[in-house]
Amino acid sequence: MELNSAIKEKLERLQEKYEAMGQDMASYLDGLLYADFLTYWDYIHLDTLLSLQSPKTPFPDEEIFIMYHQITELYFKLSLHECKQISTAENLSVKFFTQRLKRINSYFQALTNSFEIMVDGMEREQFLKFRMSLLPASGFQSGQYRMIEIYACDFIQLVDKAHRTELQGAPIAAQFEQIYWKYGATELSSGKQTLTLKQFIQKYASQFLSLAEQVQNTNFSALYHQLKERGEDIRELTEELKKFDLFVNVDWPLAHYKSAVRYLERDPIDIAATGGTNWQKYLPPRFQKRIFYPFLWTQEQQNEWGKTWVLSVLKTLQNKA
Ligand code: HEM
Repeated sequence: MELNSAIKEKLERLQEKYEAMGQDMASYLDGLLYADFLTYWDYIHLDTLLSLQSPKTPFPDEEIFIMYHQITELYFKLSLHECKQISTAENLSVKFFTQRLKRINSYFQALTNSFEIMVDGMEREQFLKFRMSLLPASGFQSGQYRMIEIYACDFIQLVDKAHRTELQGAPIAAQFEQIYWKYGATELSSGKQTLTLKQFIQKYASQFLSLAEQVQNTNFSALYHQLKERGEDIRELTEELKKFDLFVNVDWPLAHYKSAVRYLERDPIDIAATGGTNWQKYLPPRFQKRIFYPFLWTQEQQNEWGKTWVLSVLKTLQNKA
């Protein structure tokens, strides 16, 4: 069969490409002759992906627990992929920032909506048994979750609220000493740092610190202010940032909190978490008052942070009981 002109032209362009790199096109064509066709399963590394579920116990519901954590970590990775693009963009435009932020919001929406898989999707009896084999590991040790927070706001917003005023303007390393989540991970009995926290810090502290230094002027909050000062139209961006603030600091944490209540709440004394924290005081957003962008909310909205939602969740749970 004659080679048509379109194919000839492509071959010429390929020839130019290889020549420019000092390569022999004919040898590469030989390679193509023998190369296998790409398959779906190789492309997405399906066999590897499906081999990553290794339960520690024979309880079937443990696999659900493992897979849902893995799904969540993949969504966190998707979010970080967008965070990086926003933070490192040259001449960041409002349009690019908004579009990428919408993607992150859609990931958190999917995570919030799907959390029912955890809340209602496992037998409580099985969960309470297999969790004992996972001690002292906890989702608290999700490094990606903490990195999303670092990209999202000025680091001072992640400092425990009792220390925020005194540490305003202090070096990042000093602020890191008082990061809010260290206060959640104290042992119920002794008030000391939990092993869960110690291990987490040992693995991730230097990564968190260097990321925080790196994005000091390119976290979402800093970038937002830069665009605002340039007089850009930031109305849509503002709405997306507010949604993001609510997804990460209220909606997802509350969907997650519902699962802690469902599995660990027991009268009169609640069941201790695998990370050994005082989770009832630590997890609810109305206690933590984590807010990335206080300048986008009224004082009243900040005072009421997470309250309406928690009341409605508690009501649903009471009705179910
Ligand atoms: C039955 C399901 C779950 C229960 C009962 C549960 C329980 C808890 C508890 C009690 C804590 C407080 C820390 C501790 O002492 O361990 C915690 C923290 C955390 N968990 Fe879960 N969890 C569940 C599912 C998940 C899933 C699927 C993820 C996804 C990665 C996750 C991610 C986290 C994160 C990021 C924290 C830290 C939250 C913060 O610092 O505000 N958890 N979890």
